[in-house]
Amino acid sequence: MERKLIIAIDGPASSGKSSSAKILASRLHYVYIDTGAMYRACALCSLKRNIDLNDLSALTFMLADIRIDIRYAPDGNRLILNGEDVSERIREEDISRLSSQIATIGVVREKMVDLQRKLGEQGGVIMDGRDIGTVVFPHADIKFFLVADMKTRAKRRWIELEAKGLDPDLAEVEQEMIWRDKNDSNRAIAPLRRAHDAIEIDTGDLSLDDQVELLHEHIRSLQQ
Ligand code: DC
Repeated sequence: MERKLIIAIDGPASSGKSSSAKILASRLHYVYIDTGAMYRACALCSLKRNIDLNDLSALTFMLADIRIDIRYAPDGNRLILNGEDVSERIREEDISRLSSQIATIGVVREKMVDLQRKLGEQGGVIMDGRDIGTVVFPHADIKFFLVADMKTRAKRRWIELEAKGLDPDLAEVEQEMIWRDKNDSNRAIAPLRRAHDAIEIDTGDLSLDDQVELLHEHIRSLQQ
């Protein structure tokens, strides 16, 4: 029987991580874990409870009984926060910014990394995020680091927002992404970095099919 791998995919926002991870997971019959969604759930929880992110004791209290469950489904996983399905709410722009802010805080990262390791340690998992190859699973079987130029990434996000019936402004979407890249890359704990042994893939000029095929080829070469 084939060994169940731990596959790490890191990279900045809209670099193609989740789109390729979802397809690959279904091809390989692996579980897909979107760790960004977990930070987003923390952000939403803090917002609902009106917690000031500088108030470490309130945050620690919140984290002590937070319940983040992933309901796995072939047509898209659902994120359940303390019993409530928040899958759509966590994708909104206010939560994008707040999740990047809350992800700089040590106690939050400790809790999330712990959860992520428990979810992935058995293998048969594709996990995407910012620190999967560097911190969560430094011994992952294979690591990818996806990149794409800013204009392409901003356009991808803009298309996503439009598809949701919103009326996004491309320049604003780009500014928000520049801010988030900077915040995610410059934080003191587990900043966005390419692990030294990660395979870097520029998805800027690749179709989604080509992107998935390229990642799949690397994974296949490992299984032979
Ligand atoms: O992948 P995403 O855009 O949904 O992630 C939202 C935020 O969560 C991102 O701006 C930074 C944070 N994040 C993180 O710090 N570490 C991860 N492994 C995943 C996400």
